[in-house]
Amino acid sequence: MKILIIGSGGREDALAWKIAQSPQVSELYCAPGNGGIERYAQCVPIQADDIEALAEFAQTNSIDLTVVGPERPLVMGIVDLFRDLGLKVYGPTAAAAQLEGSKAFTNEMLVRAGVRAKKFDVFDNAEAAREYVLAEGAPIVVKADGDAAGKGVVVAQTVDEALEAIDRCMVAREFGAAGDRVVVEECLVGEECSIKAFVDGETIVPMVPSQDYKRVHDGDMGPNTGGMGCYSPVPSVSQEVFDQVLAEVVAPTVRTMAEEGNPYTGTLYAGIILTDEGPRMLEYNCRFGDPETQVVLPRLDTDLVDIMLATVEGRLDEIDVQWKDDKAVCVVVASGGYPGSYEKGKLMSGLDEAGAVDSAIVFHAGTRKAGDDCVTNGGRVLGVTALGENFEQARARAYEAVGMVDFEEMYFRTDIAARAVGRD
Ligand code: GLY
Repeated sequence: MKILIIGSGGREDALAWKIAQSPQVSELYCAPGNGGIERYAQCVPIQADDIEALAEFAQTNSIDLTVVGPERPLVMGIVDLFRDLGLKVYGPTAAAAQLEGSKAFTNEMLVRAGVRAKKFDVFDNAEAAREYVLAEGAPIVVKADGDAAGKGVVVAQTVDEALEAIDRCMVAREFGAAGDRVVVEECLVGEECSIKAFVDGETIVPMVPSQDYKRVHDGDMGPNTGGMGCYSPVPSVSQEVFDQVLAEVVAPTVRTMAEEGNPYTGTLYAGIILTDEGPRMLEYNCRFGDPETQVVLPRLDTDLVDIMLATVEGRLDEIDVQWKDDKAVCVVVASGGYPGSYEKGKLMSGLDEAGAVDSAIVFHAGTRKAGDDCVTNGGRVLGVTALGENFEQARARAYEAVGMVDFEEMYFRTDIAARAVGRD
């Protein structure tokens, strides 16, 4: 079977690592890939948002299944395009991907689905948004409605911060058209986690929960990033909380999307906040998380290709998905300066030694090959994952592996999964 993965981050390296283990795979491609994905797949120089060129590649090369990593091609309609051409593709249609592509769509759909939603309002003009903020007070959340590459959300601690966020979206138009509409939401407080699920339009097969570290510095300080590390499972997510999220958030969402003519297929990522009053819905993503995939897939025992094919073919109810009991910890190694400006092209060393640490896997994100060498090519450079019988062991192994890696101005958090140790 010929499989094409779309994307170039740590998530896609984890997908390639897992998919390459399937005995069903004869040829594996990744567009555009990165310096590590070349270990498992042939990298193809087509960008993830060039959906016409990707479709042509899939047709010309008789690709049997395409797996879409990032949200942008999904929101652009790559699944609709591939399906129209008779190509099998894992992910939601553009209409279903609105769950990530439009915060307003999601909030309004959650109300129709009967999911306990945050108090919110949607604004097309800045003055009305400002008045709402002045009336509601802070803390309050201001979100660019559209796809702002993960940068359009501000959790404002003061009214002034919220007013500034509105101006950045709607007056300075920092996010272009994505910020022409803003959603202003109630600010929920608590520990965040995510529960992802395989969904075939009807059947929901949950994955193991994980927790991401969004801030750049130890102690959850500094600006937000794409994610600086992750662990799975999440001790704060009891079986009761897990079941509650599936029954009260994910199931009504999937049912409502289907009833409204937008059946959801692919990975549905529910971002949850564990408030004092129980779990509440924070946001949906229409894809695997990054770096969440780097802890979830190493815990998956079942053949991912079997699951994805069953998802695409609407027969997920036939698949028995099994997970390892092991704990998983992933530490993201970043370029100094990220998420602000940083330099690329730094020569990396110690990757093989890191991969040789017991049960460690070095997932590549912002890397590229330079001859026989590997150099940095992005903000988040590696996701170093390790499994263990408990969090203490998984964490020790992940940091041992990180300690083997070196490049100029390398940066990582030192407290990933520390809060989980002893709570296994
Ligand atoms: N790590 C957060 C995300 O993938 O959206």
